[in-house]
Amino acid sequence: MVDNLYFFLIAVTIFFSLLISLMIVYFAVKYRRARHPKAVPIEGNLTLELLWSGIPLGISMVLFVWGAMVFFHAQRPPRGAIEIYAVGKQWMWKFQHMDGQREINELHVPVGRNVKLTLTTEDVLHNFGLPEFRTKIDVVPGRYTYLWFQPTKPGKYHLFCQEYCGLNHSGMGGWVYVMEQRDFDNWLSGNVSGQTPVEMGQDLFMNKLGCASCHTGGPQQRGAKLEGIFNHDVKLVGGTTVKADEQYIRNSILNPAQQVVEGYQPIMPTFKGQVTEEQLNALIAYIKSLSPASAGSTSSTTSSPAANTSAPPAANSTTANRANSNAPSNANTRH
Ligand code: CUA
Repeated sequence: MVDNLYFFLIAVTIFFSLLISLMIVYFAVKYRRARHPKAVPIEGNLTLELLWSGIPLGISMVLFVWGAMVFFHAQRPPRGAIEIYAVGKQWMWKFQHMDGQREINELHVPVGRNVKLTLTTEDVLHNFGLPEFRTKIDVVPGRYTYLWFQPTKPGKYHLFCQEYCGLNHSGMGGWVYVMEQRDFDNWLSGNVSGQTPVEMGQDLFMNKLGCASCHTGGPQQRGAKLEGIFNHDVKLVGGTTVKADEQYIRNSILNPAQQVVEGYQPIMPTFKGQVTEEQLNALIAYIKSLSPASAGSTSSTTSSPAANTSAPPAANSTTANRANSNAPSNANTRH
C-alpha cells in the first residue's frame, strides 16, 4: 500500500516536471523576441484559471484521501495480533514476548501472522523503524505507541532507531528474523526464560509491590476493582469518564492522584521511580489478563485462524467488548 502511494507520487512528480520543462522550452522558442518584439498584455482567462486551480486541487485530494487510508490502516493494529512489548533505551531495543522470551536488538516473529508492538522508552525519544516493512513509529517517554506489521517472507530484516537520540544513535538497531511458524515454535520453546509478562506482573502485584492488599478482596477493599476493567470506561471523581487502556493504567500507577475512580479516596501512593518500564509492561499485561474478553490478543503459540487474515482492524471492537462484559472473569478462579 505504501509503495503504490509512493509510486503514484513519483509518477505525478515526473509528469509535471516534464510538462513544465517542455513548456518552458516550447514557449521560449515560440515567443522569442525576434518574432514578438512587443509584449501583448493578457487581461485574464477564466477557463484557464479554473483549470489550473481545479486540477491540482483534484490531484492533492486524491493524495490526501489515499494517504489517510494508508495511515489509518497502519495506525490500527488488527485484533488477534501477536503482542510483543518493546522498550527503547540509549542505545538498544529490548523485546519481550508474551511467552516470556526476551531479546535485545533481535526480534523473532513468525511469517504470515499479524504482530503488534507496544513501545515505550526508558530515557529519550527514539523511533522504531522497519524500512522493509514500510513502517515506523515514534517511541516517546511516558507514553505507549503501537506499531503492527504482517511479515510476508521469511528472512532477516534491518530494524533501526530513526530518531537522533545521542552518541550511539547510529548503532541502535538490529534485526528482525521472520521464521516459518514451525521454526518459530522451535525457537520459542528452545529459548525458555523466566516468567511471562503476565506471571511477572502477577508476582509484582501480589508480592513485590503489595498492590493486592488494596486491589483484591471483598467489598471493603480500599482500591478500585481491576477485574474486567481493561478497555472499558471508568467513572472518575468529578464526573468524567476515561477508557481504561494501557495509558490509563500506567498513569494510575505513576500518578495515582490524577485520575481517581469514583467512590474511592486518593490514598494510593505513587510508584514513580520504583518500577521499571518492563515492570510497568508486566503489570499492565497482568491487569489486561484480568479482562480476558477485552484483551483482544492471542498467545503467540496458539495459531488462531483470524490471525492469518490481513483483515482490516475491527471497527466494532468496542461493541464486541461491551457484549462480552458479562463473561465471567477468570481472575476469580485464579486467586
Ligand atoms: Cu534511539 Cu536514535
